Amino acid sequence: MSDTSAAVVDHAAALARRIATHTARLTIIGQGYVGLPLAIAFARAGFQVAGLDSDLDRVTALATGRSHVPDVPSEELQAQIRAGRYQATTETAVLADSDAIIICVPTPLGKSKDPDISYVIAASKDAAARFHPGKLIILESTTYPGTTEELLLPLFEAKGGTVGEDLFLAFSPERIDPGNPSFKVGDIPKIVGGTTDACRRLAASLYREIVPHVHEVSTPKVAELAKLYENVFRNVNIALANEFSVMCRYLGVDSREVIDAAATKPFGFMPFYPGPGIGGHCIPVDPLYLSWKMRLNGYQARFISLADDINRSMPAHVLTLVAEALNDCGLPFKGARVLVLGVAYKRGIGDTRESPAFEIIAALRRKGSEVTYADPHVPALWVDGARIKAVEATEEELRAADCVLVLTDHPEFDYAAVARHGRLIVDTRHTVPDAARGRLVRL
Ligand SMILES: NC(=O)c1ccc[n+]([C@@H]2O[C@H](COP(=O)([O-])OP(=O)(O)OC[C@H]3O[C@@H](n4cnc5c(N)ncnc54)[C@H](O)[C@@H]3O)[C@@H](O)[C@H]2O)c1
Repeated sequence: MSDTSAAVVDHAAALARRIATHTARLTIIGQGYVGLPLAIAFARAGFQVAGLDSDLDRVTALATGRSHVPDVPSEELQAQIRAGRYQATTETAVLADSDAIIICVPTPLGKSKDPDISYVIAASKDAAARFHPGKLIILESTTYPGTTEELLLPLFEAKGGTVGEDLFLAFSPERIDPGNPSFKVGDIPKIVGGTTDACRRLAASLYREIVPHVHEVSTPKVAELAKLYENVFRNVNIALANEFSVMCRYLGVDSREVIDAAATKPFGFMPFYPGPGIGGHCIPVDPLYLSWKMRLNGYQARFISLADDINRSMPAHVLTLVAEALNDCGLPFKGARVLVLGVAYKRGIGDTRESPAFEIIAALRRKGSEVTYADPHVPALWVDGARIKAVEATEEELRAADCVLVLTDHPEFDYAAVARHGRLIVDTRHTVPDAARGRLVRL
């Protein structure tokens, strides 16, 4: 598509100027793990940012300077509020005054494991309802290829926007890894694909204000697919590590030792490690957005399907390990006291979305085990309609358990103490030291 009319030059140039001078007003829709760090990064760069979220409790907390995201300390949030650069709101009216709108709302799966795109549609409709010529709209939510141009573009065109002339539309996937101290928003290169050259250039110029490296691609679809390919890559490699650990168990070999040995190769190998199953929003969910789209195209995405099967079988495999370990001590599931260490889906954060801990704890309880858990990031957990309160992983708790089951390798746990006091330990993360050998079963 070419950008040749005088109107293009006017709107694009005006917006480019506002971006370059940091006078462009931004609204980030969705103030979760993705949207809040992004909003604060732009505020820190000097932009006026509205953080729009439909969750009143979340907005109330943010407005009073309380952050719920590990990558945004509350002090940083408060500093940006004080400087008048960040404002959390539930009022969609802020969209009318915005020069650029970035959409960071959830993209979960529906009950039948098909994409649930309803949040993206709702946010886009809100933005389109307040469209005026010259706006830049960027979708960041992970989604199926084609969403930006098949779903968003018609909504804005229906409000009179002409893409590349007075409407600028792009997709730029968020690649944040919550809780990762080495890679925060500003450290991760941004991929940007625009519907026209002007769209791409404007979106890229906005991100260059907060990220040193922006990689421009030819279309939104390439950018949408790049994000999915990254997560399929992780999903498939985690599945390989998981299946490899099952195979190693048959062979009486420690899978971790093998993977670490292979990882000494300085090229052509990247280590992935087994675990109790996959959790979080990205890895269990995103690949299914791609396989769904491929099914519509008459193609079966076999790697995705196999990886999904293997990864989803891991909680059952963990239960088998626990059953065998208890059995070796003459104990049935029924009445066994199991202390679970870690219920978040990964280390260092309190995010329990899609965590395999739910399935494992629910199954243990159904079999009659008495389950307690410790997790410094998750004070309480709902399992099968019952609320379980976290305990601390004290010496007494460790000693009292028939089996200590490590599901998340939080750095806060004292693994030497687990090795000392645990009577029987099933370690799905290979964090408990060898000192526990004889009482220790590793995945
Ligand atoms: N969390 C991650 O690690 C991560 C990493 C990369 C990409 N992503 C992707 O980013 C997107 C957002 O994920 P997240 O983890 O930030 O989700 P989240 O659940 O933490 O936050 C989403 C926020 O959007 C709000 N919201 C939903 N619909 C809204 C609407 N119509 N208007 C205003 N607010 C609305 C919700 O109230 C919530 O606060 C998803 O597509 C996800 O796949 C997430």
